[in-house]
Amino acid sequence: MKNFYITTAIDYVNGSPHLGHAYEKVLTDVIARYRRLMGDTVFFLTGVDEHGQKVQQSAKARGVPPQQFCDEVSQEFRAMCAKLDISNDDFIRTTESRHKKVVRDLLQRLFDKGEIYKAEYKGFYSTRQEQFLQEKDRNPDGSWPEIFGEVSEITESNYFFKLRQYQDWLIQHLKTNEDFVFPRYRQKQVLEFLSEPLNDLCISRPRDRLEWGIPLPFDEQFVTYVWFDALVNYYTAVVDKPGFWPADFHVIGKDILVPPHAVYWPIMLKACGIEPPKSLLAHGWWSINGAKMSKSTGNFVEPIAFADQYGVDALRYFMIREMSVGQDSDFSQAQFLARYNAELANNLGNLVNRTLNMTNRFAAGLIPASELAAGAGDEAEKDLMLLWEKTRDDVLSLFDGFQFHIALERTFAFVTATNAYIEKRAPWKLGKSTEARDQALLRTTLATIAEALRLATALLPAVMPSTAKKINAVLGHEPGAVWRDELLWGSRLTGKKVAETAILFPRPEKPATEKK
Ligand code: MSP
Repeated sequence: MKNFYITTAIDYVNGSPHLGHAYEKVLTDVIARYRRLMGDTVFFLTGVDEHGQKVQQSAKARGVPPQQFCDEVSQEFRAMCAKLDISNDDFIRTTESRHKKVVRDLLQRLFDKGEIYKAEYKGFYSTRQEQFLQEKDRNPDGSWPEIFGEVSEITESNYFFKLRQYQDWLIQHLKTNEDFVFPRYRQKQVLEFLSEPLNDLCISRPRDRLEWGIPLPFDEQFVTYVWFDALVNYYTAVVDKPGFWPADFHVIGKDILVPPHAVYWPIMLKACGIEPPKSLLAHGWWSINGAKMSKSTGNFVEPIAFADQYGVDALRYFMIREMSVGQDSDFSQAQFLARYNAELANNLGNLVNRTLNMTNRFAAGLIPASELAAGAGDEAEKDLMLLWEKTRDDVLSLFDGFQFHIALERTFAFVTATNAYIEKRAPWKLGKSTEARDQALLRTTLATIAEALRLATALLPAVMPSTAKKINAVLGHEPGAVWRDELLWGSRLTGKKVAETAILFPRPEKPATEKK
């Protein structure tokens, strides 16, 4: 058994969770569940990023102390994880003392090693936005955009981390670890970024400007700024868990790959004498109906409300089926409903219903033994069995390569083939015959359908955990402890009593929640 440590990004609590946050949790959950099925000891971390200017401002706007604000909003993120059946083992908040301690220990370690220095920083500062501006923020005519209000040039002392001196090490590290970033083409993007000289990283803010942060252990007049606080969460969570660091995967969105995760983080760890994570998985972004998600324009999907309306597994299925990991995707209600109806309700749902109905109608609800070996049946059964073997082998390797959308396509192609097999055998006709040959073929047919359904279901628990559970339950099946054994065509279901009916994917009744 191998340890497998996987994390999501930690979400800013200055707003409520949206579909992008939900997707990242579900994607990571699919990987975590898959690794568990494969026998790994998984530690799955998610959580929230609670410090910084924006949170301080949002709390102020709501008229509550920042800690209270964080307590409230972080609860929404936790509730989303519970709602979406996310199997995280831990939920970290950066305001927890366990985290503050680790951040301060690492900062002190770096300071003692001479990796952090104090310097003056001169730049243009927007008081309204409370941020330093860069040349690229200017209008083409050189003026500053309205949103920045009054802009003045100020000088401020701050602490800097010696990032630059690790540039060559990182380039070498990336060259010798070609799989550091998935998808691979994103690794090239990191190397491109590193082709320019790095600047040392400003890691502090004076406390009179930003109160809501972790004070530097060597100068309490400053707090540590953003990434030095946030990234460390991954390490905090396993600092007392031998055998889990380095992380196997940090799952993040493409926007926070370069520079924070692919440059700052490995260098911070290297400077501390800690191993860098093994890999980063950068997913793409969801848009909604072709436009960027935005609360202010109403172009927004509330994941919890959506899951309430259509079912948690339907949402999980759609996100994983629709998005190719690494690419961007569009979330449209029409596409969701098309998949819901065609793939979930009419294909999988239909197979479940037919299996139950026919077993009840023709075999008193008890799944018969297949009589294929005794000659009842022919190529139709054998073809389905061969297709199963190919489907299973493909799906496992697609899962290993994070090609979950194709893995689901293959799984559902097997469901389609099973439905086609039913049409071919037409058990409703066999059931009318009193011929012994037909009766034997009917028994083989019922056994074959039930077994094919059990097997297709065995490929689903990572993506649709509760659907898989429900189908197994109506088949009277309790999966064994070794998942790979579950994936073998056999006779596990012989003699099992099936349920009368199952409603897995009811027709959606309520009107759409998605606004345009
Ligand atoms: N707090 C930082 C991450 C620190 S990790 C040490 C942050 N937070 S965030 O709330 O802005 O984003 C959290 C995650 O959600 C990121 O991985 C981000 O890419 C992802 N998404 C935010 N919007 C998204 C979409 N529209 N689509 C898919 N994921 C996106 O960044």
